[in-house]
Amino acid sequence: MKITFYGQNSLGLEVSGKNIIVDPFISGNPLSKDKVDIDMLQADYILLTHAHQDHVLDAEAIARNTGATIVSNYEIAMHYQEKGFNVHPMNHGGNWKFDFGNVKYVNAIHTSAFADGSNGGDPGGFVIEGEHKNIYIAGDTALTMDMKLIPMRTKLDLAILPIGDNFTMGVDDAIIASDFVDCDKVLGVHYDTFGFIEIDHDEAKRKFYDAGKDLMLLEIGESIEL
Ligand code: NI
Ligand code: MN
Repeated sequence: MKITFYGQNSLGLEVSGKNIIVDPFISGNPLSKDKVDIDMLQADYILLTHAHQDHVLDAEAIARNTGATIVSNYEIAMHYQEKGFNVHPMNHGGNWKFDFGNVKYVNAIHTSAFADGSNGGDPGGFVIEGEHKNIYIAGDTALTMDMKLIPMRTKLDLAILPIGDNFTMGVDDAIIASDFVDCDKVLGVHYDTFGFIEIDHDEAKRKFYDAGKDLMLLEIGESIEL
């Protein structure tokens, strides 16, 4: 499984020959817009954790370019189906075996209205099992006890957690989340994009290190292989 960071919570996944884009917010992200060309992105699926603009801004453009299927909660899926896009609706606790692996939509504590105020359902995260590697994409969320449910079903290889604080967990709560999901390897996301979520990278990495954990912070466009 290859994972590429596009800024904020935007990720590209390559799993079993399929391309998956998660929460595309690139053309409106001052850190990403000059580094990533959304017209060059390949996608068989677009996974959306919730309806906030910093997660869905480029979903329509990428879906239009690629014909990708948009996977999200029921309300978000219907929002895009009404606009003519291919969708796969899910809801919390549900699994679906896609052609690249199993996806479960899991709880997040956050909000989820579209930019125009329309209903974006309840926010979530994704547990993805594919190519014998398992990852958790928390999406925007507070630290929540529900995270403890994830390792009861899935042994994670990587937890992708928000660390920017203010709108989501910060570093200290993300360290506890890493314990809750029983995964010491963490990719930090949702930081630095706006003033409210700027973090000290060295301090964040040191706190994880001191807790016996590994925090990765990728450059925009940088990839890791699991
Ligand atoms: Ni949000
Ligand atoms: Mn967000």
